[in-house]
Amino acid sequence: MINACSTSSSSLADLEGAMTRLKTELGRLGLNLTVWDTQGQAAIPYAPCRLGAALGLSHGASPTEIQDLAMRITAEGQPATCTLPGGCCLIGVPIMHRRRVVGAATVCFPVKEMSEGPAGMQLCEQTRLDRKKIAAIVREHTRYSLTDADQLLQLLNWLISREQALHVAESELITLSTNLATTYEELSLLYRISSCMKVTGNPEDFLQTVITDLLEVMNIEGAIGLVYAHKPAVPDDILVLSGDMDLNCDQVHLLTATQIAHRLADTNRPMLDNHFVAPPGSGLGNAVKQLVAVQLVDNDPIGMLIGINKRAGDFDSSDLKLLSSIANQASVFLVNNRLYADLQDLLMGVLHALSATIDAKDPYTHGHSRRVAMLSRRLAERFGLPSPKVKQIYLAGLLHDIGKIGVPERVLCKEGRLTEEEYETIKRHPGLGAKILQGIRQLDEIIVGIISHHERPDGKGYPRGLKGEEIPLEGRIVGMADVFDAMTSDRTYRRAMEIERVISEIRRCAGTQFDPKIVDLLLGMDITALMKELRSEDSSLPLALSPEDFKT
Ligand SMILES: [Fe+2]
Repeated sequence: MINACSTSSSSLADLEGAMTRLKTELGRLGLNLTVWDTQGQAAIPYAPCRLGAALGLSHGASPTEIQDLAMRITAEGQPATCTLPGGCCLIGVPIMHRRRVVGAATVCFPVKEMSEGPAGMQLCEQTRLDRKKIAAIVREHTRYSLTDADQLLQLLNWLISREQALHVAESELITLSTNLATTYEELSLLYRISSCMKVTGNPEDFLQTVITDLLEVMNIEGAIGLVYAHKPAVPDDILVLSGDMDLNCDQVHLLTATQIAHRLADTNRPMLDNHFVAPPGSGLGNAVKQLVAVQLVDNDPIGMLIGINKRAGDFDSSDLKLLSSIANQASVFLVNNRLYADLQDLLMGVLHALSATIDAKDPYTHGHSRRVAMLSRRLAERFGLPSPKVKQIYLAGLLHDIGKIGVPERVLCKEGRLTEEEYETIKRHPGLGAKILQGIRQLDEIIVGIISHHERPDGKGYPRGLKGEEIPLEGRIVGMADVFDAMTSDRTYRRAMEIERVISEIRRCAGTQFDPKIVDLLLGMDITALMKELRSEDSSLPLALSPEDFKT
């Protein structure tokens, strides 16, 4: 094994597999490879060759002489060749890493000429064999002559370069493959996040999805998402946790408030701490050992995402990069969600203001539209209608008399009996209301409730004289709520009716003026509690609307 005790050795250690493979390959060619670091330490040691064993020598070439050549090669950075005193040939080339010499590869091999001349004599003395016998053994165990040295040097150079190039390619492939896997995970997560970024969605559900996915992709023990309160989208701080953390919600609040928020704000950069220690007495214990945190930002901080304790190793820049990408994506959703909530709030405010202007034309009808909206909503809920339809009916109740804007006040507020002509003017208000709202695409679905709220099952209503089930359900519900509130409120020409009389009147008119099913729903309610609720100041019930609410 290559000993990685110095910088050059650690570079050589990276090449250990390649060099071991090469030693085997060269061994088959009768070439004995040794690898050296720049300090002259044998990273892949010298092994005596087969010729030495055949001659009965305990060692072949002297490692010291090979070491000397290796040191010269690493110092000069050039290939070199020489003949050892024993007659073997030695060649060597530098090993480069990032344009730096990190060692030398030497190859020692016996040559046919070593049984001749002074080397042959030396062998005879060392082995006590005669020259003929020596020559026979050398012939059997040598493949090369001294003249082959240059070619073998070129071969060694080429093989070392090839192994290094292969090693670089393998390393790049591993890095590429790791990066690819990480990028795939990141993209998958970002895709999953963007697919649940429905602007009408609930920020808490969205945040929970994000941090649950973070656990897996970042391989962490726990994840935290925090969004600061911002009405109307986020009435209170949202804090969501995921994973196995030995922290309760209070501790998480403490952690974010005392250890993270100010550091993020002060540096305006993500936070990475692989040696987190909670201050003594902070109440945080030692559950958090590592953390990464990034801010969720609009123009100002709107919250943060936090990763707690890596399951293996430390947090690094790739974790920060991933968390930052997700925080950017999450911030886009949260900002859009805020804008959408603001728009909804504005729309509801405008619609309430619009309905209040109608009620304001006649002080006796103060709050009438709001109460009709409330009761319509209750009836729609009791009818079992889906949430979007309930909201449409609520809005139809709120705006049911919007057409009275086009009815002169002298007619609207007239005390005493209306003339035929005045009554005809009043009867135009459902149609006028539909005309006023028909330009607002988002309110298309509520027009049907407005235009039909004065129709009656017996066909004596207006404007079209529809009968029974011909009258849209929205109109039957809003119509019932409208009359109930009119009967239970003071008007210019009379006081509010007693509850008992209201109930008996409604029951009497079931099937003629009112839909019997709606009557049953209304009278099945606790009327006294209902009256109290309708007149409560808190009962304006602003409803959150979404585009789906306007689809049937
Ligand atoms: Fe009306």
